[in-house]
Amino acid sequence: MTSPELAREAWPRKVMRRISRKLGPLGVFFEGFLEHPVMVGSIIPSSRFTIARMLKPVKWDECKVFVEYGPGVGTFCRPVLDRLRRDGQLIVIDTNPLFIDYLRKTITDSRFVAVLGSAADVEDIVRGFGHEHADYVLSGLPFTTLPDGVGPAIAAATHRVLRPGGAFLVYQFTAKARDFMAVHFNRIDADFEPLNILPCKLYWGWKD
Ligand SMILES: C[S@@+](CC[C@H](N)C(=O)[O-])C[C@H]1O[C@@H](n2cnc3c(N)ncnc32)[C@H](O)[C@@H]1O
Repeated sequence: MTSPELAREAWPRKVMRRISRKLGPLGVFFEGFLEHPVMVGSIIPSSRFTIARMLKPVKWDECKVFVEYGPGVGTFCRPVLDRLRRDGQLIVIDTNPLFIDYLRKTITDSRFVAVLGSAADVEDIVRGFGHEHADYVLSGLPFTTLPDGVGPAIAAATHRVLRPGGAFLVYQFTAKARDFMAVHFNRIDADFEPLNILPCKLYWGWKD
């Protein structure tokens, strides 16, 4: 392709990016979906009903290190920061640089760190911030569409990184994530949130 052809090719993308940025977080999320539909797995962020239900069982006074996989545009980040103790830390991990750049620009809370990387590397990432363990890990990952082997590897790494008594919080449109969790977590609580696009299943895997 010649350079004028390349420039023509890039033009609609630039326009689309400008329009979606004007729409705020929803636009950035949709842009991320258009660029990586399989990795993002949803066209719209989670609802406030899903957020409230998912976070309800967390014992915030016992939580110093909260990790989130696949934060997207940060739908869960602010509610987590609102509940997290003052000496706590929220570490979010996402493979999409568009989302990580957006989060670093828009969330300035000193307890917040955004890491560009894979959830499969959670143990190194948590240790890199000086922690032995995480108290809670929240996942919005699209387990059904992750590449082969990635889901089981993430479930195993999550079980290792959690402290005893901690929990793996997962929301998903299908029950697939539960299969990966059940290999490591003996006790899994489950619920359902109808007020979400799409309605979703919620799981809490507790580490003995
Ligand atoms: C459905 S979106 C979740 C959006 C957001 N948490 C919400 O509730 O609205 C899934 C996210 O997982 C991220 N993702 C996919 N594979 C990943 C991986 N291996 N490690 C970390 N993040 C990943 C995608 O980039 C995307 O941001």
